[in-house]
Amino acid sequence: MNIIDNLLRDGDNLYDQWNLTDIPFAESAEKLDRLAQVFTGREAELSQVVNLLRSRDAKSILVYGWIGIGKTAFVRLLLEGLKRSLGDRVLTARIKLEANTDLSTAALIALARQMPNDEWAQYQLNCMGLRSSLPLRSRKTTAGADMGFKATVEESTVAPEAPQFPTLSFEDLLDRALQKHERVIIAIDDLDKQDPARARQLLLNAQGLLKGRAWFLLTGHP
Ligand SMILES: Nc1ncnc2c1ncn2[C@@H]1O[C@H](COP(=O)(O)OP(=O)(O)O)[C@@H](O)[C@H]1O
Ligand SMILES: [Mg+2]
Repeated sequence: MNIIDNLLRDGDNLYDQWNLTDIPFAESAEKLDRLAQVFTGREAELSQVVNLLRSRDAKSILVYGWIGIGKTAFVRLLLEGLKRSLGDRVLTARIKLEANTDLSTAALIALARQMPNDEWAQYQLNCMGLRSSLPLRSRKTTAGADMGFKATVEESTVAPEAPQFPTLSFEDLLDRALQKHERVIIAIDDLDKQDPARARQLLLNAQGLLKGRAWFLLTGHP
């Protein structure tokens, strides 16, 4: 047996002890599929946010810290935990803020993606050139009287249209979501990847949104 075999075998034994198959640390918490398995600490911060969430009034919470400190991991673990414990009482959504997107468009997309059975939401995603979870169909019905009654329905799938501004507002969609869920919590991650002046402007433009009926979790760095 050569040295490589030995090293691999020792590695396997070590990983088996921890119930792992490979290195659990990804560069970003974004891609980590077993976050709960490796997540440690942050009890005080988690308890702070969970206590805030008991309030009836929606709040916006800024998760603040240097890049790599664990903001994405924190937000993900929190949202996954809330969803697991509260089920349909809560709707949780998370989106990475892309350049050239304002907060309300990001929030609208995040929310729509979590409403796969809502035709409005899926239509909106489609109109924005984003993939909806429902195939959108157009229907053509022809009916006629010809020795009795004859009707045919032709159905075809509609291709996504070119991106355009939302025609459905975030508020419209939030109304629909709040009919089914007590709380809507939207995490907008990567605000910290914007330059500080732009991040400030985005927050200023989103004052109304952030003081509305949805909870927001935003991440930012000093
Ligand atoms: N509480 C934690 N316990 C274990 N690993 C963590 C924890 N927080 C973050 N990490 C790991 O550290 C790395 C960076 O975390 P991330 O959340 O992406 O940082 P940020 O979003 O602040 O840039 C990831 O690999 C993540 O899995
Ligand atoms: Mg991050």
